[in-house]
Amino acid sequence: MFKKRKTNPVAVAVALGATLMTGCTSATTSVVKSESSSAHMMVASMESGTLVAASRVSGGQGVNNPPLAALGPVPIPPDNPNTPAKVELGKMLFFEPAVGGDTSTPCSACHEPDQGWAWAEDISRGYPGTVHWRNSQTTVNSAYYPRLFWAGSVPSLEAQAKSAAGGAVAGNAEFDIVEARLALMPEYRKRFNEVFGDEFPLYRNAFRAIAAFERADLVQRDAPIDNYFNGDKDALSEEQKRGMALFNGKANCIECHNGAMATDFDYYNIGVPTLPRWDEDGLAQITYRYEMYAKGSNEEMYKNYKEDPGFYFRDKNVWNKGKFRVPSLRYTMYTAPYMHNGTLMTLEDVVDFYNQGGGNNVFSANKSDLIKPLGLSDEEKEDLVAFLEAFSGDEIEIERPKMPGYAPLFTKAELMMEKK
Ligand code: HEC
Ligand code: HEC
Repeated sequence: MFKKRKTNPVAVAVALGATLMTGCTSATTSVVKSESSSAHMMVASMESGTLVAASRVSGGQGVNNPPLAALGPVPIPPDNPNTPAKVELGKMLFFEPAVGGDTSTPCSACHEPDQGWAWAEDISRGYPGTVHWRNSQTTVNSAYYPRLFWAGSVPSLEAQAKSAAGGAVAGNAEFDIVEARLALMPEYRKRFNEVFGDEFPLYRNAFRAIAAFERADLVQRDAPIDNYFNGDKDALSEEQKRGMALFNGKANCIECHNGAMATDFDYYNIGVPTLPRWDEDGLAQITYRYEMYAKGSNEEMYKNYKEDPGFYFRDKNVWNKGKFRVPSLRYTMYTAPYMHNGTLMTLEDVVDFYNQGGGNNVFSANKSDLIKPLGLSDEEKEDLVAFLEAFSGDEIEIERPKMPGYAPLFTKAELMMEKK
């Protein structure tokens, strides 16, 4: 029999505040290994002739999982160090309409600071004329994830920003046009030159600056749970402390939501139900079909599915259908609705969902056997919800940067000089 993998190197590194990303590439490799663990385990156990249930077997209530912990310093890749000037530039670019296709979709359009740096609808707004197909995640603390997006499809914030800005139903930007626009804004020419030495702003550096901003300003390390683990035992109320005991014990959340980020960064199907909106909203349905097609599904799936196969699109293994990355519980007080398709409206709904043993969807064959009815009383449910709130500190508010304007590339006098 195989044992559930107990040490999650990423979660431990984050808990210890270690500088995890010793380079984009090494971070990627270590993570890929950990992620495909369930697939590896399955193969391993098949070889030894004792095929146990496809993914995880519970090692018992919360035993050997990395404990919840205070969040350490943000990991910074050595090939994109943070500097104040870069962070400031990244902040401007996060709000900069010129970084999207028709200049209506800056990052902040779907990661609205007043909506938890996310978008408060089930599925996100999309590029004009489209609706997105997944819930918009918060960008708060995303710097700690080894892989980004609900299905973990990209390995770094730099790559993520590029994929968001260029994605057809998100930013839909043409990067040569973005560069042309930035070149016509003297303020950006100056700043890209100072920060990156660019003669004219390069879009790849725009994404490096945005990533630096996220690592500097969109981080929260002083939530009540941090203060508690940093020694302030009064940071949690009695109710929250009871909730924590449930989290680690009877409710068994710790099996997947563990370590300082309250996630093991792995992928599970917990039976999140179908999004009714895909039946009712034509535009949303079109995006769903488009994504199914673009990500490579067979005809049978394309014609008949009404569900997001999630992690399956990463490796096309049937046992990964309907699995999603365990999201952090941090900052979730501000990021309703919940789950990859936003079908659960409140943290109370989430707790009810787990208490009844999760849900069902067409991929239920892959549902994790860690998800089962919990038998929590009303009071216990309240305690657990109260504890979930301890993962969020104050709302992160920043002063929105002033957007620079366009100006001709050369003044008439400069052109005259060139002619001479
Ligand atoms: C039109 C809406 C839209 C725009 C514009 C947009 N995003 Fe997103 N963002 C989303 C959605 C929806 C997701 C989740 C998508 C998924 O998982 O497939 C997401 C996910 C993310 C994540 C992943 C967080 C996590 O937990 O893994 C980050 C980081 C992020 N966006 C940053 C950005 C940045 C930076 C920009 C600008 C360059 C941007 N986004 C532009 C909608 C948008
Ligand atoms: C088997 C692993 C597993 C266990 C056990 C588990 N979760 Fe989750 N949790 C997940 C996954 C995976 C998701 C995302 C699922 C999706 O979107 O389809 C999730 C999503 C969530 C979310 C939504 C976060 C967001 O940003 O949308 C909350 C809140 C949450 N879980 C709380 C809990 C609580 C409380 C418990 C214990 C009662 C628990 N979870 C137990 C794996 C787990």
